[in-house]
Amino acid sequence: MTQLEILKGLKRLKASEVVCLCVSFCFVLCLFLLDYRSVSNGFRVRGHRGLGVRFGFSPSGHELVGFLEPGQKCDIFDGNWVWDESYPLYESKDCLLLDGGFRCSENGRLDQFYTKWRWQPKDCNLPRFDAKTMLERLRNRRLAFVGDSIGRNQWESLLCLLSTSVTNRSSIYEVNGRPITKHTGFLVFKFADFNCTIEYYRAPFLVLQSRPPGGSPKQVRTTLKLDKMDWGSVKWKGSDIIVFNSGHWWNSEKTIREGCYFQEAGDVKMNMSIETAYLKSIETVLNWISKEVDTDKTQVFFRSFSPVHFRGGDWKSGGSCHLETLPDLSSSPASPSIMFFPNIFGSVLSKHNNGSSSQTKVELLNVTYMSSKRKDGHASVYYLGPKDGGPAPIRRQDCSHWCLPGVPDSWNELLYAVFLKREYSLAGNSTAASASPPPM
Ligand SMILES: *[C@@H]1O[C@H](CO)[C@@H](O)[C@H](O)[C@H]1NC(C)=O
Ligand SMILES: *[C@@H]1O[C@H](CO)[C@@H](O)[C@H](O)[C@H]1NC(C)=O
Ligand SMILES: *[C@@H]1O[C@H](CO)[C@@H](O)[C@H](O)[C@H]1NC(C)=O
Ligand SMILES: *[C@@H]1O[C@H](CO)[C@@H](O)[C@H](O)[C@H]1NC(C)=O
Ligand SMILES: *[C@@H]1O[C@H](CO)[C@@H](O)[C@H](O)[C@H]1NC(C)=O
Ligand SMILES: *[C@@H]1O[C@H](CO)[C@@H](O)[C@H](O)[C@H]1NC(C)=O
Repeated sequence: MTQLEILKGLKRLKASEVVCLCVSFCFVLCLFLLDYRSVSNGFRVRGHRGLGVRFGFSPSGHELVGFLEPGQKCDIFDGNWVWDESYPLYESKDCLLLDGGFRCSENGRLDQFYTKWRWQPKDCNLPRFDAKTMLERLRNRRLAFVGDSIGRNQWESLLCLLSTSVTNRSSIYEVNGRPITKHTGFLVFKFADFNCTIEYYRAPFLVLQSRPPGGSPKQVRTTLKLDKMDWGSVKWKGSDIIVFNSGHWWNSEKTIREGCYFQEAGDVKMNMSIETAYLKSIETVLNWISKEVDTDKTQVFFRSFSPVHFRGGDWKSGGSCHLETLPDLSSSPASPSIMFFPNIFGSVLSKHNNGSSSQTKVELLNVTYMSSKRKDGHASVYYLGPKDGGPAPIRRQDCSHWCLPGVPDSWNELLYAVFLKREYSLAGNSTAASASPPPM
């Protein structure tokens, strides 16, 4: 492409962006008016501010119960995004613990709508995220995120959310003094006033990737040992909370085409499908949890697949999402292809959880559907800062990681809700837990 062509392209883009922004603005204004109307119609609010519950109304207009209320069993993963002026919960420029790749607005993204959406479950209200409450509950404990770089996306979101309540910035530090970068195998941030650590371990497959057995065919450069955990597992094991995720690396590009084949016991399975291999890896993780993890102490979560939104190609072939400024607010179900991984995963998980007591269950953080509605939330060309020559070229977009503040904050609000719910229910039972401060 000549320079002239690029300039022309940019001009075209600008015009379409402007139109898009105007349409978005009108749309949001409408939403705001609608919201205002429904609130003024149904203004009848019970006062449980003390529980930090946010008020919301079901589609039929009646008031929703808080998820933390005893006995409340609501599917918090089914719902929709609502505009909320009180969001975002932090600004990226105020958070020192954030990779440049997620700092979209500092990297030149102009629209801020994507920071203003709150996840509203259909049948109940989530508690508002309260960093002090979470840190107090994490005192003397370890929380570990284990998985791929989308797990790091969520980990950094939680670091920022928690640090909003800490005024002494030097009381939050990486225990080995390392900076946040994409390339480190693990990072452990300590919140010194609470003696708690929020940790990240890179293990995109969760199972072990290493050299193939001797005598393997030439094209086999590495193998994934589907029956062995990643070496890092000795480090995660003792955490009080583990949040696993995997999915993005289970495709042919990151496995077979790179010469990475699947292995069971001593055998390289040249023909095993990726789906089969993925399921076997999940079974290995769940077996490891049953055998090696003390689930009286450790609460285990598994976050489901985070959808990507490349349009007109993928990350290598010019796929894009940089013109998306609004979520998909229709109530249409997610496409079966998006739900494929979470649903086969869900069936393995429910088999594992069948017969377990509620304490030994692995909790699913089913974020796939909610995130599938957020084509507006990705870093697109804003993953490079001015120092790195950003924004990135239109043909090199990131439509899989998320801007922060943004969508992963909502995953952490769900994590917070499920975590607190368990804390409260244990407090009624265990003497250790009831010694900690009462709910808020
Ligand atoms: C700090 O937390 C760790 C666990 O993360 C625990 O082993 C240690 O005893 C705690 N230290 C104090 C002083 O409570
Ligand atoms: C801030 O935290 C650091 C590390 O924990 C501590 O050494 C320092 O005394 C704290 N400063 C204040 C003003 O509390
Ligand atoms: C693997 O697939 C190839 C071609 O698809 C076939 O020729 C071969 O027999 C298969 N090997 C095994 C062990 O199934
Ligand atoms: C995840 O949530 C979506 C939306 O509520 C639902 O359709 C899907 O069945 C859920 N998946 C699992 C495994 O629970
Ligand atoms: C759960 O376990 C019971 C018996 O232990 C069995 O009858 C039932 O089919 C199982 N359900 C699932 C979903 O696997
Ligand atoms: C304690 O847990 C048991 C079962 O785990 C339950 O039956 C009991 O009601 C609980 N007690 C309180 C006070 O919550």
